[in-house]
Amino acid sequence: MQRVLMVCLGNICRSPLAEGILQSKVNPNDVFVDSAGTAAYHVGNKPDERSIAVAAKYKLNIKNQSARKFTVRDFDDFDLIYAMDESNYHNILSLARNANDELKVSMILNEINPNSNQSVPDPYYGGNQGFENVYQMLDEACEIISKKL
Ligand code: 4NP
Repeated sequence: MQRVLMVCLGNICRSPLAEGILQSKVNPNDVFVDSAGTAAYHVGNKPDERSIAVAAKYKLNIKNQSARKFTVRDFDDFDLIYAMDESNYHNILSLARNANDELKVSMILNEINPNSNQSVPDPYYGGNQGFENVYQMLDEACEIISKKL
């Protein structure tokens, strides 16, 4: 069983979509997918309605997810940890205890463009087009990830 964690800031917009998209592309007997946020503002909340809507447009149900905060234990519980943006990446790495923890962490769009360190833009303060854009980026990245798992 491979374990993959998707991480953004609030765990209500980007990483819930990444979790739902990757889950839809893998065999649940082989791969466990979860998501978390580096901040605690939205702990216990379901995903943002705009993420729920764009997921539903592509036949994915993410509305039963509940936001949680990333913790140092996630380094033990997961094999791969994908940060949505550079800020998330640095916040996760600041909690790493050793090189083994650090090696698990990468920026998700580097799956599409290696070493480019591009960020999935935070759609929280924008409109629906931002969520569509995030969906398309994450779908492309998760397609590549699913083939490597
Ligand atoms: P996310 O988006 O990190 O993709 O879940 C955000 C959600 C909430 C906030 C910022 C980003 N916020 O500031 O409350």
